[in-house]
Amino acid sequence: MENRQNRFIKPDTEKKIDTLLAKMTVKEKIGQLHQLGTSPVGGFEISKNEMKKLLDAGRLTKEDYDNWMSNEQWDENEGLVRAGEIGSFLGRDKDPNFYNHLQRVAVEESRLGIPLIFGNDVIHGHRTVFPIPLAESCSFDDETFEKTAEIAAKEAASEGIHWTFAPMLDISRDARWGRIAESAGEDTYLASRYAAAKVRGFQGEDFSDKDRIVACAKHFVAYGAAEGGRDYNSVDMSMQKLWNTYLPPFKAACEAGAGTFMSAFNDLNGIPCSANTYLLRTVLREKFGFKGFVVSDAFSVGECVAHGVAEDRKQAAELCLNAGVNMDMVVGCYRDHVEELLNEGKISEDTLNEAVREILRIKFAKGLFDNPYTDVESAADILICDEHRKEALKAAEKSIVLLKNEDILPLRKNAKIAVVGELADDAEEMLGCWVLGGLPEETVTLIDALKLRGIDFVYEKCCGVKTDFNREAFERAIENADIIIATVGEYRDMSGEAASYCDIDLHGEQKKLIDALYNCGKPFVTLLFNGRPLAIRDVAEKTPALVECWHLGTEAGNAICNVLFGDYNPSGRLTATFPNYSGECPLYYNHLNTGRPTSEVRHSSKYQDAPIKPLYPFGYGLSYTDYAYSNLSAEIIGDNISVSVDVENAGKVSGTETVQFYIQDVVAKTARPVRELKEYKKVYLEPGEKVTVTVKITIADIGYYDEALEYIVEPGEFKLWVGHDSTTELVTSVFVK
Ligand code: NOJ
Repeated sequence: MENRQNRFIKPDTEKKIDTLLAKMTVKEKIGQLHQLGTSPVGGFEISKNEMKKLLDAGRLTKEDYDNWMSNEQWDENEGLVRAGEIGSFLGRDKDPNFYNHLQRVAVEESRLGIPLIFGNDVIHGHRTVFPIPLAESCSFDDETFEKTAEIAAKEAASEGIHWTFAPMLDISRDARWGRIAESAGEDTYLASRYAAAKVRGFQGEDFSDKDRIVACAKHFVAYGAAEGGRDYNSVDMSMQKLWNTYLPPFKAACEAGAGTFMSAFNDLNGIPCSANTYLLRTVLREKFGFKGFVVSDAFSVGECVAHGVAEDRKQAAELCLNAGVNMDMVVGCYRDHVEELLNEGKISEDTLNEAVREILRIKFAKGLFDNPYTDVESAADILICDEHRKEALKAAEKSIVLLKNEDILPLRKNAKIAVVGELADDAEEMLGCWVLGGLPEETVTLIDALKLRGIDFVYEKCCGVKTDFNREAFERAIENADIIIATVGEYRDMSGEAASYCDIDLHGEQKKLIDALYNCGKPFVTLLFNGRPLAIRDVAEKTPALVECWHLGTEAGNAICNVLFGDYNPSGRLTATFPNYSGECPLYYNHLNTGRPTSEVRHSSKYQDAPIKPLYPFGYGLSYTDYAYSNLSAEIIGDNISVSVDVENAGKVSGTETVQFYIQDVVAKTARPVRELKEYKKVYLEPGEKVTVTVKITIADIGYYDEALEYIVEPGEFKLWVGHDSTTELVTSVFVK
């Protein structure tokens, strides 16, 4: 496969960069390495709008609010832009016209006219909000991954954004870690396909196109393995695990041509990722052939001091720039210290020039030297237009996972319905973590969608995520109902950054609501709104139907109604294992073989007080129909394993099945995973329809990095399971020579 990084190296661009470098002063060079936030409220981790909301909700005193807001230093930076001392802005909440204004200062009033690059967290949509990444990954649908990124890019670009800090490619196997919501889940193969599709979606064929933005593969690397699922925590792992499990999605993003990478907050085996020469130079530049630039995660250069590997910000700048971080996100260590470090010989001129070159290379590739401004007038026709809403609905439908259904769903349209739970009617909470452009007033809740469909129903909140269960309201709501829809889960700020929880069961009194439903004797369906797998064993037992609705974005309510009433046959599959209890985390399907494989036997690898099976496994998800598998066969043809299986829709309604292919290297030099996903394919089947699904798995792709970090495919038996989820028993094998 072509490594698209090579496309960034164009002799005429490199010459232009040479010419610029020859003219640039040291201060101007350092300016290119400095990224500043446009709204330094609360250290960038919170936007001005969010601050205002906290104030209005009484969660912040006026004094604290004024204090934080007085940090706003937006206007002061114009002078620095004019002086060529800022290369990029991390922007939030700004009027797009202001981007153009600042760009004009950079291009027309600075000495060398080098354009700014505006970056932002366009994570799962911009104004049109798509499902959170963990939800969207459950679609197992590369076209959806690509399409939603393409739309997000178009909308963001229309508002002046050149560069997104996405896709997030951290393999996430610990549901306590809040940032699992931003990921594609626990599986390396799926995340690698997701990575390439997202880069294609954001960047298109060539990101100089005005509708495209530069992607950023983050967080490099292994952030998802933070100890105990605590955010920002340390990561200590073997190099084999790093290479086999955590690096492949980044390699895929690199080969797909990601223009930038972001170094992670965590340390890897003691070395913070932003100061990690092995990761940034040996792996990324030498092995992966990366030609773009690396931005640090926010403040992570300065945080080398807190990590205890630098004695002060100056040494932090020295370590990170030498290690290969080109751009210092918001903390200003480079701005304050690189000149001094250069004079002291601690940073070489070559290192500085190379760091600047790689940033300028991406600015040239984005076309910023030729077309620095954004036509902001075009935004009105683009933002949340009908076409984008349609795609948001499709993506949301595909992300929903039906977890349990005892003949409750689909619902009858004329049933007497009662809806309970706060999340049924909270648009803001449907948007999920990391939403900077989406608006609650443009978001469809379940209640909105029921009204739009003309469904007759009664609604009482009865219970919030964190507020008490109100029995009186509950009795009132269910009195005349034939069926009850319960909505429970997490607020959107309970997943994402800085949202780790050691207990991932339902919060507050939501379980009292479920108990009341269980005891009332009427049928009910429970809808979950959350950003992570939840440990809800007892809820799952008590509820006759359970639907995982995640945080689905703009079209949440409509998508949920389509599933509830059978207008869309659910097809989503879990990409992260649901544990029975929080204490089982981290829990994932593709763990290594052990000497005492998990079983009912006492002396086997397991907890004595938990079931040996997870609550819901990877790949799991029900449908309103059944799929039957037969005639599995596999043979080696040339460099590939050709696998065929017959899949039949054995039920009464049409549906889309995700056919999953898993392998196991039965005997190898090192212990290998019990199963690993190696291919998936979606097939749409009418009732009674049967198709033969054939895929080719390249033999070169079933190997692994051994203890010497050599990639090898060992000869011998490989088992191949095919089926509906990661527990499928339909198996065959091939022998690789
Ligand atoms: C910190 C987060 O870790 C990162 O994902 C994000 O892109 C930056 N802040 C910028 O907002």
